[in-house]
Amino acid sequence: MEFITLALAKGRTAKESINLLAKTGIYFADVSNDSRKLVFHDSVNKVKLIFVKAVDVPTYVEKGAADLGIVGKDNIMEARADVYEILDLKLGQCKFAVAGFNGDPLTKKKVLKVASKYPTVAKNHFNQKGIPIDTIKLNGSVELAPIIGLADVIVDIVESGNTIRENGLSILEELDSISTRLIVNKASFTTKSERVHALIHTLQTGLE
Ligand code: PRP
Repeated sequence: MEFITLALAKGRTAKESINLLAKTGIYFADVSNDSRKLVFHDSVNKVKLIFVKAVDVPTYVEKGAADLGIVGKDNIMEARADVYEILDLKLGQCKFAVAGFNGDPLTKKKVLKVASKYPTVAKNHFNQKGIPIDTIKLNGSVELAPIIGLADVIVDIVESGNTIRENGLSILEELDSISTRLIVNKASFTTKSERVHALIHTLQTGLE
């Protein structure tokens, strides 16, 4: 039996995802938090795990570099990758939100300046509302943008709400709910059907 490749998003949900896999019997002996290793093998179940930056997981899966991926819905929405989204693993639950200074009406400006790690999500949201925007792509510490005057508002994920609160911002609009999802490469779904479906079933069982 050949190895099936699973791309796992590094970062805040990685540990929970590995725990979920372990609960279902997919176990990587040498995975550790301090290690810089990026490839792991479960030789019993023939699963190869690759640790990928979250934002890149949809690309790895779309291009077939990985058969499956475990990644947040935020990155799936932003990437708009051509993959199957199969399971909600219910980890890393948070939501997209528009945040800024309270009392700043979103339509006050002629063109709203929106900073985000998710420019596509931001554009789609404001397009639907018919509000013209300029997007400013940032890679982190997005909450700083309205404070410094780089942007009027941000579109970002909010989990506990601490970052928003501690920086004096408020949620102006709540958007989609986000959680970790299992995605599958479209070709692998057919050509490796048996393996892929077995893994889906195993994870599904682990969620019950
Ligand atoms: C994320 C997100 C928010 C924060 C939300 O950033 O972009 O800034 O977490 O979480 P909270 O509601 O629980 O405070 P992350 O921690 O990934 O860091 P970053 O700013 O470097 O992107």
